[in-house]
Amino acid sequence: MIRPCEEREFEQIWEIVNDGAQAYRGVIPADRCAEPYMSEDELHGQIEEGVVFWGYEEGSRLLAVMGMQRVKDATLIRHAYVRSGEQQRGIGSHLLTHLRSMTSGPVLIGTWEAAAWAIRFYERHGFTRVSQQEKDRLLRTYWSVPERQIETSVVLADWRDGRIDGRSDNPNFSGA
Ligand SMILES: CC(C)(COP(=O)(O)OP(=O)(O)OC[C@H]1O[C@@H](n2cnc3c(N)ncnc32)[C@H](O)[C@@H]1OP(=O)(O)O)[C@@H](O)C(=O)NCCC(=O)NCCS
Repeated sequence: MIRPCEEREFEQIWEIVNDGAQAYRGVIPADRCAEPYMSEDELHGQIEEGVVFWGYEEGSRLLAVMGMQRVKDATLIRHAYVRSGEQQRGIGSHLLTHLRSMTSGPVLIGTWEAAAWAIRFYERHGFTRVSQQEKDRLLRTYWSVPERQIETSVVLADWRDGRIDGRSDNPNFSGA
């Protein structure tokens, strides 16, 4: 079952993020890989900033979370994590499909350049990687992330019918 996470589930969300993020160990740059990967304060901060978490529940156990945040004229998919023992069973796909069905306009996703599996996962769902130049601009416009994270990240986009100001590689851009 896919449903919005509740406030009282904060600890579970935090646990799933850090469990799922084990996949990053030894892959993403060491200086970006804290232990735990995300602190409780950081997660509180993300929720306060407007990230809304949805969860995938099976047998009354939360197995995965995915956050969604409306920023300006786009929707960001943020903090997508499936518990380490439950990955590659289709759960992430269910969540992503569900979240996308609730949004209109462009959907943007930022992830680590080194997380090849995550890039493939989003590409399989129709997202395309934006150019280096566009990535830097989008990360500075839609996210609040440190410069070092900008350097080591990629952005994938599904522009759909949406239009984003000044985007240079949006195939739907008509120049207006
Ligand atoms: C990325 C993630 C959310 C995808 O969810 P999922 O439930 O595992 O993915 P699904 O089972 O729906 O889809 C599987 C597809 O995802 C990709 N994939 C996910 N994990 C993979 C892995 N460990 N190795 C290879 N491919 C992987 C592949 O494209 C795979 O398709 P394939 O098996 O046909 O090649 C999940 O694997 C995860 O939490 N990973 C660790 C954290 C992470 O990278 N989060 C993304 C942050 S933006």
